[in-house]
Amino acid sequence: MTDAYLNFVNSPFGARLASSLGLPKPEVLRRYRADQPEFEGLIAVGAGPQPRMLEALAGMIARTGMTGVAHESAGLWIPLAQRHGVMTGRFEPVASGSSQGRMSALLFDASGIEDVTQFDTLYAFFHDALRSLDKCGRMVVFGRPPEACATTRQWTAQRALEGFTRSLGKEARRGITSNLIHVAPGAEALTEATLRFFLSPRSAYVSGQVVRIDAVTHALPVFDWKQPLAGRRALVTGAARGIGASIAGVLAAEGARVIGVDIPSAKEALDQTMRALNGTALAFDIAAPETPAQLAAALDENGVDIVVHNAGVTKDKTLAKMTEAAWRSVIDINLAAQERIDDALLEAGTLRHGGRIIGVSSISGIAGNAGQSNYATSKAGVIGRVQSMAPHLRERHITINAVAPGFIETQMTAKIPFAIREAGRRMNSMSQGGQPVDVAQTIAWLAHPGSAGITGQVVRVCGQSLIGA
Ligand SMILES: NC(=O)c1ccc[n+]([C@@H]2O[C@H](COP(=O)([O-])OP(=O)(O)OC[C@H]3O[C@@H](n4cnc5c(N)ncnc54)[C@H](O)[C@@H]3O)[C@@H](O)[C@H]2O)c1
Repeated sequence: MTDAYLNFVNSPFGARLASSLGLPKPEVLRRYRADQPEFEGLIAVGAGPQPRMLEALAGMIARTGMTGVAHESAGLWIPLAQRHGVMTGRFEPVASGSSQGRMSALLFDASGIEDVTQFDTLYAFFHDALRSLDKCGRMVVFGRPPEACATTRQWTAQRALEGFTRSLGKEARRGITSNLIHVAPGAEALTEATLRFFLSPRSAYVSGQVVRIDAVTHALPVFDWKQPLAGRRALVTGAARGIGASIAGVLAAEGARVIGVDIPSAKEALDQTMRALNGTALAFDIAAPETPAQLAAALDENGVDIVVHNAGVTKDKTLAKMTEAAWRSVIDINLAAQERIDDALLEAGTLRHGGRIIGVSSISGIAGNAGQSNYATSKAGVIGRVQSMAPHLRERHITINAVAPGFIETQMTAKIPFAIREAGRRMNSMSQGGQPVDVAQTIAWLAHPGSAGITGQVVRVCGQSLIGA
């Protein structure tokens, strides 16, 4: 699906017209491409008092090959960076209008902030560096999970960072994202997959999010950053088209062997998608009572490592006009079927130790939506499932998370009436809809073996939509 306005205002004539009429000009977002470098350029590094993450960050930045330049708030950075072999120097603001020496990312370590009186460096760093951040740049703040803080003052200060990070996302525009990563004490070494995701063009449409990384007691499996899912098997429901086909494609590109499921009437499209990925097509209706057992049997003794519950439907009507059949089928397909399938796969041990379950929710499930009481109920239930199941799955080292897409350009959103569709597209910090690949890349990060410390969470893929914010 295409966004004609975005294409128009980024053409030479459209850009002139938009600027003379004062129309918004959404940025063409930089997205991951295998033939282009994923990480490049300068990261400006800032820090609050007693930063606890800098040492771990220096090692991670060294492995991305980026250059980390120190703001005056991060005095410790240069010797640390040199020790880890990171190219480094001092942060120099870029003169306005100049494209030389712009920052690809701004990174601030707020993990040592213990009191709201310690925000001066946070202000100074972003105040000094924001104008030097390039378009489609990244802002990442590292903090501590407030609920893990030792004092009420520390909890307050750490919680305050959410408002700060989200506001910067709304101010920055130009395709820039701003996210907050809460790292629990002891989880510092588990942040690399997450840092890479948020620095990379893979997170083009993820902004204003808070992600918590917990410590785990088990060792991570060995993996290759270029093919992190090699040797893993991934089940993706609703894989024939739209977001599901994109999820299947991204997981396969990361090395997974994909088993795609879709309804029998979509078999041809499913076969085609799976053939291109060297995957397996299973034409099952996920809501049929016999499907969970059939799926467990079809996955055989090889089992599965990643389960993505993507299949979903809408049957929109205000509640007074909604038939009982429309109410029931949406809840059954979007929510109850996931429960039945997970129960069967967990009971049979088909979902392997160290596995990943990822549910596709929606911002409708967070905010509610007129005409979508059935859909929003099902999608809020997906969030409840993730939160309730996470503690029970820890013992098997299985993580369970959800993504909540906002407006994504697919056949589902193409059906929305024009005026509502246009509003959905523009009411976010990117002033545009996302692409299926934005959801798929977010799911691939949650499925990553390095994301072992992330569970029970919901990550919105909505360009920081105002809906439900
Ligand atoms: N497009 C968006 O803007 C958006 C926003 C938020 C959430 N979502 C969610 O993302 C997911 C994918 O959405 P999409 O836009 O790609 O939709 P889509 O309609 O293009 O694709 C959904 C796929 O699920 C399959 N499916 C439906 N019922 C099934 C069943 N009973 N058994 C097996 N397969 C079934 C369909 O055949 C289809 O291939 C859905 O869960 C949707 O609710 C989408």
